[in-house]
Amino acid sequence: MSTQSGTSVLFVCLGNICRSPLAEGVFQHLVDERGLGSRFVVDSAGTGGWHVGERPDPRSEKVAAEHGIHLAGSARRLEADDLREFDHVIVMDRQNLADVRQLHDLHGGPAEIRLLREFDEQADRDLDVPDPYYGGPDGFEKVFRMVFRSCEGLLTALH
Ligand code: 4NP
Repeated sequence: MSTQSGTSVLFVCLGNICRSPLAEGVFQHLVDERGLGSRFVVDSAGTGGWHVGERPDPRSEKVAAEHGIHLAGSARRLEADDLREFDHVIVMDRQNLADVRQLHDLHGGPAEIRLLREFDEQADRDLDVPDPYYGGPDGFEKVFRMVFRSCEGLLTALH
């Protein structure tokens, strides 16, 4: 994917309905805002399959919309081919990291696998984007801010 379409980035969480669609939408928004649309391919996926085909969680859609960002697509499950086709696989927490590394150990592929908050300039020692699924709506705003800062850092690092 890197040769014809620029740099490809896949955001990964557990369900692909809360955090990774938000990261995909925010990163795409930043890419578009900077006129870099032709240089990046952006997508998201989940390590679990429970929500395949579903639109993003309404709470993620709401917090994104409050910041002028539309979330595209519907949930899909991470596949071994993704680790061959994407240049960067950016995961939300350490459990995602372990799951993606396990898939990578089995199938290989050139994808570089990193935690999103490695690119958060305000991150402390905990580099997880917490799962907001079972929490209240304020969790989504907190996650949005973390994801936004991290995506800015990621774009700077990749650009
Ligand atoms: P996500 O959140 O990984 O950020 O999409 C979750 C969504 C659904 C579930 C867990 C986490 N679930 O258990 O169904």
